[in-house]
Parts: sequence; structure tokens; C-alpha cells
Amino acid sequence: MVGAQISAERLRLMNAGDLAQAAELSSAAEWNQTPDDWQMLMELQPQGCFAIEADGRLASTTTLVCYQKRLAWVGMVLTRAEYRGRGFASRLFTAALRHADSLGIETIKLDATEQGRPLYETFGFQAEQAVERWSRPEIAQSQTSESQRPTSVRPLSRHLRELDSQAFGADRSLVRKNLAQRSTVYSGQNAFLFSRPGRTTDYLGPCVASDPDAARTIITSAIKDAAHNGWSWDLMATNKDAVTLATELGFVRQRCLTRMVRGKPLRGREEMVYAIAGFELG
Ligand SMILES: CC(C)(COP(=O)(O)OP(=O)(O)OC[C@H]1O[C@@H](n2cnc3c(N)ncnc32)[C@H](O)[C@@H]1OP(=O)(O)O)[C@@H](O)C(=O)NCCC(=O)NCCS
Repeated sequence: MVGAQISAERLRLMNAGDLAQAAELSSAAEWNQTPDDWQMLMELQPQGCFAIEADGRLASTTTLVCYQKRLAWVGMVLTRAEYRGRGFASRLFTAALRHADSLGIETIKLDATEQGRPLYETFGFQAEQAVERWSRPEIAQSQTSESQRPTSVRPLSRHLRELDSQAFGADRSLVRKNLAQRSTVYSGQNAFLFSRPGRTTDYLGPCVASDPDAARTIITSAIKDAAHNGWSWDLMATNKDAVTLATELGFVRQRCLTRMVRGKPLRGREEMVYAIAGFELG
């Protein structure tokens, strides 16, 4: 029986044919990612997105996004409920870490749920700081229709790109470029903000600003646009200005995750990060 179970399981790279089942997996966990988010992860790091297929279906996933050799981000660690406790997440996590190590990545980070945290601790990951999901239901106001939503395809100014690298702590131009294709991009002189559709709410982030006023201006203008199902916004609790702003704008803290790290210490200018790009991206 055990032999039959093992032979029915296969650890492999994810591919485009997995999108629908991968999205099912994240929806079942009540996460906000869409098939498009999964597709982006596979496009960014085709050799870093792993799955275990069991009984002919996708049972478990783990993704990795690399920011050159400086940083890699682990995400989408999910196991279908009926396959939990069989070591699937551990096996995929091991594969992702091996891949990162083979690329010579200096630092690996992730945002851990309470359920995921014990797994990462066994691999030597340590808590760095709290990250929080804030959300706001749709509020009927000066809404713009989908077709009127401003979409900027202009690249960010050099100044904003530099600000982003300082704030994030690594060069994420490739991820930004991919996100820009899927997002509404707002940019001012000293701030930028991306927003993209999510499964249940629109997602606000990443947002980087040199100061709280620049952040307030850009976030306020974004949430005036139509959000069909409200907003989700993930922020670092250490950025008190972000917390104040979220509260002022009617957002409510939903849950708290733990940012965890392994390898060479790496911190950006977190006081300039008003919204992260996603728990799976950093
Ligand atoms: C977290 C999750 C991915 C674990 O998947 P899994 O395939 O059951 O994990 P494994 O069987 O490989 O177990 C990994 C280790 O974590 C431990 N573990 C798993 N779930 C745990 C829990 N809820 N509480 C405490 N420990 C847990 C296991 O005991 C195991 O430790 P061991 O190797 O010392 O026995 C799965 O519970 C899940 O999909 N949860 C919902 C989504 C989620 O929160 N993902 C984490 C995102 S950061």
C-alpha cells in the first residue's frame, strides 16, 4: 500500500498546464492569488516552481523568485488538505532551497503563515519581522469603470527605480516589469504604486515612497479608482506611517504573518516600503 502511494507521487517542475489546479489550491486556502499570479511566478522562475503530483492531480506546490544572486523569495507553499502531513511541503521546500543554493543565492526570505512557520524553522529560517494583511471592503464612491482605469506603460523614472532598489534591498526590475504588465501603475515624483486584480479583492502593492505625504497622495488616488471587490494591502508593521495611512483610509488589519530569513542578513529601507509586492514576492 505504501509502495503504491509512493509510486503515485511525482515531484516535478510546474508548467502552464498546472494553472487551473494551482489556482484551486490557493483558493482553497482562501488566498487572493489568481491564475495570472501563478503564471507570472512560472514565467519569472521556470526552474524554481515545484509541485508534487499525487493520484494524477496537483497535491502540493512551492515557488521561488530570484532577485539576481542577492535574494530569493519562497512562496505558494501549499498542500491540498487531504495530502497534508505526508512530508510533501518539506520535499518541495528542500527542492526550492537546493535550487537557490545551486544558483549561489546569498539570502532567502519568505512570509510565513502560522501553519508554515514550524516547517521553515526546521530548515533554519529565523523570524525577521511582522508583515500584515490589511483590507478594505468596496466603498461606493467616485468609481471609474474598468475601461477608464488608468494604466501606465511608461517605465518608472530612474529616481523611482533607484528608490525601489534601496527600499526593497535588491534590484527587482524584472519582477517590476512583469508586474507592470498586469497592474495599474501610478507614479509621482517621489512615489509609485502598482495595483492588480486579485481573486477576491484588488491588490495594492508594491508601493514605495520617499515620505508619508508622497505615499498618501498616490495611495489615495489609486483607491479612488474602481475596486470591484475592495482592496488587500500587505505592509510591514515596522512602517508606522504605513499603518497610520492604512487606518486613516479605512483599512482593517486581517492577519499577521512572519517574515523569515536564512543566509546573509539583508534589510532594505523599510520606512519607504508602504506596500509589499505580495507574500510570494516580498
Ligand atoms: C503548511 C503546509 C504547506 C504544510 O504542508 P504539508 O505537506 O502537510 O507539510 P509536511 O507534511 O511536509 O510537514 C512539514 C513539517 O511541518 C510540520 N507541520 C506541518 N503542518 C503543521 C502545523 N499545522 N503545525 C505544526 N507543524 C506542522 C510537520 O509536522 C512537519 O514537520 P516534521 O518534518 O518535523 O514532521 C500545509 O499545512 C498548508 O498548505 N497549509 C495552508 C497554507 C499555508 O499556510 N501555507 C504556508 C504558507 S507560508
